[in-house]
Amino acid sequence: MTTLSHGVKLALVTGAAQGIGLAISTRLMEMGFSVAMLDKNPDVIDAAQLLSGNKGRANGYVLDLSDLQSVHSLSGLIGESFQNLSVLVNNAGISPKHQGRKRLFIDIPLDEWQRVMDVNLTANFLITQICLGPMMKNREGRIINITSQAARTRTPIPGAHYAASKAAIAGYTRILAGEVAEWGINVNCIAPGRIESKMTEEVGSDINTELAKSIPLGRLGKPQDVAGVVEFLVSENSSYLTGMTIDVNGGNFMA
Ligand SMILES: NC(=O)c1ccc[n+]([C@@H]2O[C@H](COP(=O)([O-])OP(=O)(O)OC[C@H]3O[C@@H](n4cnc5c(N)ncnc54)[C@H](O)[C@@H]3O)[C@@H](O)[C@H]2O)c1
Repeated sequence: MTTLSHGVKLALVTGAAQGIGLAISTRLMEMGFSVAMLDKNPDVIDAAQLLSGNKGRANGYVLDLSDLQSVHSLSGLIGESFQNLSVLVNNAGISPKHQGRKRLFIDIPLDEWQRVMDVNLTANFLITQICLGPMMKNREGRIINITSQAARTRTPIPGAHYAASKAAIAGYTRILAGEVAEWGINVNCIAPGRIESKMTEEVGSDINTELAKSIPLGRLGKPQDVAGVVEFLVSENSSYLTGMTIDVNGGNFMA
């Protein structure tokens, strides 16, 4: 399952230094993948080292996805093992807050709107294009885009640019899934609700405690709740599933 004829299968996870991306990387490594962990935060190097211990199955790479030109260096950065890429998890994302609060639509400056689109949407598009190379060559792949409940319904915490970027990813996912199915590549989204992470902490614990009360399962999600669904989406059990969005929100939003 986790080897190709020319080596161990590689999984690439963006935004892997902490939070949901770190939990996903951990789970993929436990499943036997070699994991390329990418982040703008240099802590990703230590995080990968800590994860892999002496097994050597995780490597950290520093890349700032807001620098769209630098995204083209991705395959060179990872090196030869990039040819074994079979899983891509587009997880990196930003949700700008100012003293813990979003900007209202009417107040969002163009540069903030553009920054959110660059990191959340355009870098995701470019990375996916690059990663399709080895996947199409090997005729297998699983692409998982981490979107958000904000792409599915009205949510009070994130800004309009964040919601727009995440909804756009879900839109392109459906088109791409149709285009690459014949290459053995499945493309799906996971839309988390409120998950415990640095991003969530920014609004303060009072708001998070209050929000948790309105969630049917009675708590915020944990990064591992998302990682478990990634495990399903890279397994054979989901081989007939493509172009879909899976909600992981404790029942907070039911489509
Ligand atoms: N936490 C939640 O409640 C929640 C809910 C829905 C969706 N999401 C999505 O899940 C994903 C992970 O979120 P998280 O909660 O773990 O957030 P987080 O802020 O804890 O982690 C995000 C990671 O992405 C990295 N990153 C940010 N900008 C980058 C850039 N320009 N280049 C490279 N790396 C960059 C950060 O350094 C960080 O390590 C995001 O896409 C987020 O939008 C989170």
